[in-house]
Amino acid sequence: MSTAAAVIDLDVTGPKISKHLYGHFAEHLGRCIYGGFWVGEDSELPNTGGIRTDVVDALRALNIPNLRWPGGCFADEYHWMDGIGPRDQRPSMVNTHWGNVEENNQFGTHEFMALCELLDADPYINGNVGSGTVREMSEWVEYLTRDGASPMVSLRKANGRDKPWRVPYFGIGNEAWGCGGQMRAEAYADEARRYATYLRDHGDNELYRIAAGASDGDLVWTEALLKAVSQMNCGRVKPRKIFQGVSFHYYTHGGEGIRRGSATEFGDDHFYRTMIKANGIDAVIRGHSALMDVYDPDRTLGLICDEWGTWWEVEPGTNPGFLYQQNTLRDALVAGRHFDIFHAHAERLVMANIAQTVNVLQAMILTDDAGALVLTPTYHVFEMNKGHQDALRLPAHLISTPDPVEIDDDQLQPVSLTASTTGDRALLSASNLSATEDLTLSIDLRGRPVRNATARLLSADRPQAHNTPEATAVSPVQHEATLADGKLTLELPKHSFGTVSLELA
Ligand code: AHR
Repeated sequence: MSTAAAVIDLDVTGPKISKHLYGHFAEHLGRCIYGGFWVGEDSELPNTGGIRTDVVDALRALNIPNLRWPGGCFADEYHWMDGIGPRDQRPSMVNTHWGNVEENNQFGTHEFMALCELLDADPYINGNVGSGTVREMSEWVEYLTRDGASPMVSLRKANGRDKPWRVPYFGIGNEAWGCGGQMRAEAYADEARRYATYLRDHGDNELYRIAAGASDGDLVWTEALLKAVSQMNCGRVKPRKIFQGVSFHYYTHGGEGIRRGSATEFGDDHFYRTMIKANGIDAVIRGHSALMDVYDPDRTLGLICDEWGTWWEVEPGTNPGFLYQQNTLRDALVAGRHFDIFHAHAERLVMANIAQTVNVLQAMILTDDAGALVLTPTYHVFEMNKGHQDALRLPAHLISTPDPVEIDDDQLQPVSLTASTTGDRALLSASNLSATEDLTLSIDLRGRPVRNATARLLSADRPQAHNTPEATAVSPVQHEATLADGKLTLELPKHSFGTVSLELA
């Protein structure tokens, strides 16, 4: 048994933890859209206009703030006009990035917007720079968001949608340094300026334009984008930055220089290397933020991590291009740690999207065509943490911790903690990342009297534990938290994640 001590100042509020840090990503990849969200209207599985009902119901419980679509790499070969109009007349294409399979365009713009309405989530649409045109992207925005007379509005109306939709977020290509066109940083920066120029605000719809950003900590890429952001007016009433957000992607696997490994079969060494790699996102965000502070000291630009999560070898016997992986307690701990880091950077980090929502990479939900639906351990972290969405960050200081775990030249501090408040309540999330030691965490709650503490715990007998259609091994349970004289004591078993909800007087 090890011990740790912390102090939380309940009366010192920090920045708002944007709800969009709990965003999602759904690509035309493997069984995320087809066989995940989309089963079609003729399916025997309950659906609303072809969208699987139990998937929507499960995700609604997470308060998903936004959903990014249609890619990823797929975005830069997607032509949106192929995905509108009568479904039986839509052309097919080949999804060259993901499995080289036929994409029949049954799920397109109207289906995606219907999904967002069902989820009550903001759409984040990612446009095609790599193989598309400025006109194509500009007309997509017109089709989606314009009211009144225009060619795209007439087309939308002919396809059955009278009123424009609200589209707050629009991405200008994806991974332009790689699958999105193999561009050099300066070349993409100019392209982003050109495309952004024609991404118009129609009526009341104000777009938040997101430039395709760096891989991991590639600051050269980010700096090129930052140099390209200047105010433009073009006769508009309000001058604005040419794009408002800059993204980056960061994936977690077993660690630098080692194989990705299996999602479910790993030892303590791989477990720790995974946690160290997950921690690496902290330095990456720090680097991008520091650069942004130089070019944008007033913090008018947002940093966005629109792809994050674990990336393991695919499950044996599945299509390698479908990126289908199981999801264990280890993945849940990676998610918990990411959220602690995201909260710590809430001043600059305005959105993050886990890759991906259903059946791909670090999914919330795994489904099969027979109707099974599995909630993964990662799902439960999103659910347990949802009280942090749009809450104000509280300072949480670890003042004594167990010895770090040493792996080669790296160290892992096994305790992680974050806290936020909505005024009359506070939410604490804590992780014990040790694979072998249980932990007693004592927290000095300062600044405001606390009335009640309600704790929940996500744990299992081993970090490889995961859920299947046959058996649920990882799901949250009510847990003990002792509150006495402003001191909270929480027992966190090895490899566990816990939350405590506090009622503030
Ligand atoms: O999420 C899977 C893929 O990872 C995305 O399509 C791409 O953007 C990234 O490389």
